[in-house]
Amino acid sequence: MLQDKNIVLGVCGGIAAYKACELTSRLRKLGARVHVIMTKSATEFVTPLTFQSLSLNQVVTDQFSAPRYWEIEHISLAKLADAFVIAPATANMIGKLANGIADDMLSTTVMAAKTPVIIAPAMNTNMLDNPVVQRNIDALKALGYIFVEPEEGLLACGDVGKGKLADPAAILERILHVLNPKKDLAGKTVLVTAGPTQEALDPVRFITNHSTGKMGYAVAAIAARRGARVVLVSGPTCLKTPEGVERHNVRSALEMFEKVTALLPESDIIIKSAAVADYAPAEVSGQKIKKSDDELNIALKRNPDILYELGKMKGSRILVGFAMETENLVENALVKVKKKNLDFIVANDLNVEGAGFGTDTNVVKLIDGDGGIESISIKSKLEIADIILDRIADKMKRTCV
Ligand code: PMT
Repeated sequence: MLQDKNIVLGVCGGIAAYKACELTSRLRKLGARVHVIMTKSATEFVTPLTFQSLSLNQVVTDQFSAPRYWEIEHISLAKLADAFVIAPATANMIGKLANGIADDMLSTTVMAAKTPVIIAPAMNTNMLDNPVVQRNIDALKALGYIFVEPEEGLLACGDVGKGKLADPAAILERILHVLNPKKDLAGKTVLVTAGPTQEALDPVRFITNHSTGKMGYAVAAIAARRGARVVLVSGPTCLKTPEGVERHNVRSALEMFEKVTALLPESDIIIKSAAVADYAPAEVSGQKIKKSDDELNIALKRNPDILYELGKMKGSRILVGFAMETENLVENALVKVKKKNLDFIVANDLNVEGAGFGTDTNVVKLIDGDGGIESISIKSKLEIADIILDRIADKMKRTCV
């Protein structure tokens, strides 16, 4: 996804510098060439050798000795970079950039850059709240610098509050968002459902399934990266909302049904990757059901089949379902694609390694409304999402939706 992109990663001095190691490794796994510039204080926290080993590139730490390290002479990192990322960024570095001070390798190189600069600050809460730091951040934002907000939590200094470096996954997500050249879904609204539903039995128990939401969140993230307005209707999950996505939380199938049908009129593409419970307890006890010596039988009632209902209302919209099967994958998916009036169904088999619930990968058969089948071998859920959206975009071009 970042094949042949040059990312210059600036690492400033702070305990969160170790998280930049994970970021380096994730960038490399996506095919990026990573060039690390460390400030002098960063080297007090993590050694340059660590970044050198992870990036497979020489690490620049000193402005004046830098040329000795560069393999590609005469090309400065500023010109080479497709994007700059500063993570962690200290109050000091933010202050320098906001005020035009270029007195070390990192600030000098960023100052010479014409490519996007993504800044992920990490510092003590009180420092972050300091009006001077806030003014500097606002000034940089106004100039087009892109910030990945720090998170709240227990800080290294023992204080609790905002200031933790954003998760490397969130920083990576922002980089991908910035660098993704495909904006073919601009002007479209994509409605995505993700995660499980929970069907209450009493105030403490519910019926659910193993969906984590990873597949649907990947679809939402990629659709947003490709320029769409993305509305995500999510069952309960632990996942963070992808960059630029509008999220609506629901719990039960009935809540999902109501939310999705309310959002349908404003949607151009609907992708239903949620694992919706087909049944819910017929009665929800107001109090915790007490155990007794007898067997307990729970009567279940049918939930609405949301996708089937959407199929009746879809009009010219593109409607995509998922099918989770444990046997007869293609046969069952072919029935669903017809019965539910879908443009595509993405079929995954729980018995295939690397597919289905909870994994970061999937293995799918992408089946179109005419029964055409495309087999997609094991790939990350993000890559699978990109392929699904490619097929949707192609169909929209053909049918002028
Ligand atoms: O969330 P992850 O951990 O990443 O796992 C991903 C996934 C396995 C959940 C995902 O890839 C997937 O297969 N989602 C669909 C699971 C499912 O409910 O399959 P199904 O064959 O039972 O349903 C077919 C389609 O009808 C689905 O699009 C489903 O959203 C929809 N449906 C089902 C029942 C129902 N009452 N209403 C629906 O809309």
